[in-house]
Amino acid sequence: MSVEEYSRYTLLSGSNSSSWSLDKRTVILISVLTFPVFMFCITYMTLLGVYEKVVYPIRNLEEIRQQNVHRALAYNTFGDETNTSYSFYLNSKRYSADIGEFKLVCYYNFPSRPDSLQTEDIDPFLCTHINVGFVEVVNNSIFLSADKQALLKELVKLKTFNAKLKILLSVGGAGGATGFSEMVINHANRKSFIQSVINYVKDYHIDGIDLDWEFPNEDPGNDKYQKMHFTQLLEEMRTCVQRQPKYAFLVSVAVAATSNIISNSYDVSYMNSYVDYINLMAYDYHYYTKYTPFTGINSPLYASESEKYYLGTLNTNYSANYWHFLGMDKSKIIVGLPTYAHTFTLTNFRNNGLYAPASGFGKLGSLGFAGYPQICQFLSTNQISPIFDMESKSPYAVKLSEWVSFEDAESLTYKTEYIRDNKFGGAMVYCLNSDDYKGICKANGKTGIRFPLTNVVKQILMDNDGSG
Ligand SMILES: *[C@@H]1O[C@H](CO)[C@@H](O)[C@H](O)[C@H]1NC(C)=O
Ligand SMILES: *[C@@H]1O[C@H](CO)[C@@H](O)[C@H](O)[C@H]1NC(C)=O
Ligand SMILES: *[C@@H]1O[C@H](CO)[C@@H](O)[C@H](O)[C@H]1NC(C)=O
Repeated sequence: MSVEEYSRYTLLSGSNSSSWSLDKRTVILISVLTFPVFMFCITYMTLLGVYEKVVYPIRNLEEIRQQNVHRALAYNTFGDETNTSYSFYLNSKRYSADIGEFKLVCYYNFPSRPDSLQTEDIDPFLCTHINVGFVEVVNNSIFLSADKQALLKELVKLKTFNAKLKILLSVGGAGGATGFSEMVINHANRKSFIQSVINYVKDYHIDGIDLDWEFPNEDPGNDKYQKMHFTQLLEEMRTCVQRQPKYAFLVSVAVAATSNIISNSYDVSYMNSYVDYINLMAYDYHYYTKYTPFTGINSPLYASESEKYYLGTLNTNYSANYWHFLGMDKSKIIVGLPTYAHTFTLTNFRNNGLYAPASGFGKLGSLGFAGYPQICQFLSTNQISPIFDMESKSPYAVKLSEWVSFEDAESLTYKTEYIRDNKFGGAMVYCLNSDDYKGICKANGKTGIRFPLTNVVKQILMDNDGSG
């Protein structure tokens, strides 16, 4: 209505002031009522992931997460284990490492999609060893599908560029424990498995085998001696390598990092004499499960002041020293570093530090696993500055209810310096597929650097005069 009409209306109504105040009240009332609804919708959409789904299309991390979920769950299901009452030997002379050369062992998961990391896109000079996986044990032999056989042949071609590069076939993975129990149970089965390893060494020119059984004796069935049988397999492999040097091969084992699984699965001092080295899976220390519904660092280097008892053992420093304490030479301990992140959904987004209550996996990634490119996009799109936790030497980042623990150049610098300065055998990276293999993240202010995380590790190991 026009001003004129309006004044006529108010004159007619005869109650100028009250109609004004009624309108005002209505406006305020409507605002007061709709504002929370509006805010609620925005928050709810964010919580439901409508916003993130548009901004960060979820990538298929099938090849990474399939191998990891079992281990992450196993590490985070503590059972009754609270016994941490051992003390470390301080006299480590017997084991003091004489490292001429650090190893940089990189895991590579067979690509499952066209946009996955392809064999020919791997830098042949980035790592000293590539563990390609995962393959199964079927009928007491190594089993590769035709696709994987073809990919393995392609991968081995990297050795034509770098003759020093070692390529190992990784058997098992977190999803592939089935064939192991039947294979280790008696001498005949183990012998047939070792023969299949030799066949792969002959036919594919691989350099060795990485046994990634997660985990021996976890589900022993009717084999009371499964832990011992696994040790026997390693012993027989060592004997085989010594007897027929023509087809000699490296033997490594991907091993657990938590003390309860270590004591249940491995005869460490015996293993020490049979393996070339172990790959310590020093990650998944904190992961969302219904038993551990709180945030935490995927791969903390050290315990924090507040972490007591069992929680105080869930860090790389503890695990690496524990393996050494149990009898593994330092030079045979290859300390694992993740390139992937763990994501959580906060219960209350105002309570967003370490050990904050979480209600599930985050929306980034898949089942709580996310690759580094997703994290760097998440950070840059939201202009988030990560928080660097000095106790664990690890960053984490928060956006409303999304909480992520990840690695960056800074954390990997601390962790690799730790490996180097404490004279462990080297670093293991899990995995090339979750590093930024396309070079889309900013590193030192520019994009286009492929495998930025693994390169940080390599650079620091190379900075040591003693290394090759
Ligand atoms: C805890 O571990 C120590 C050292 O291995 C052992 O001597 C002790 O008996 C264990 N305690 C319990 C309650 O299992
Ligand atoms: C394993 O053995 C079973 C039974 O002898 C056979 O049916 C199957 O084809 C074998 N699998 C492989 C991969 O050799
Ligand atoms: C690292 O572990 C060793 C052995 O458990 C321990 O003595 C040392 O205090 C730990 N370092 C830190 C910084 O926690």
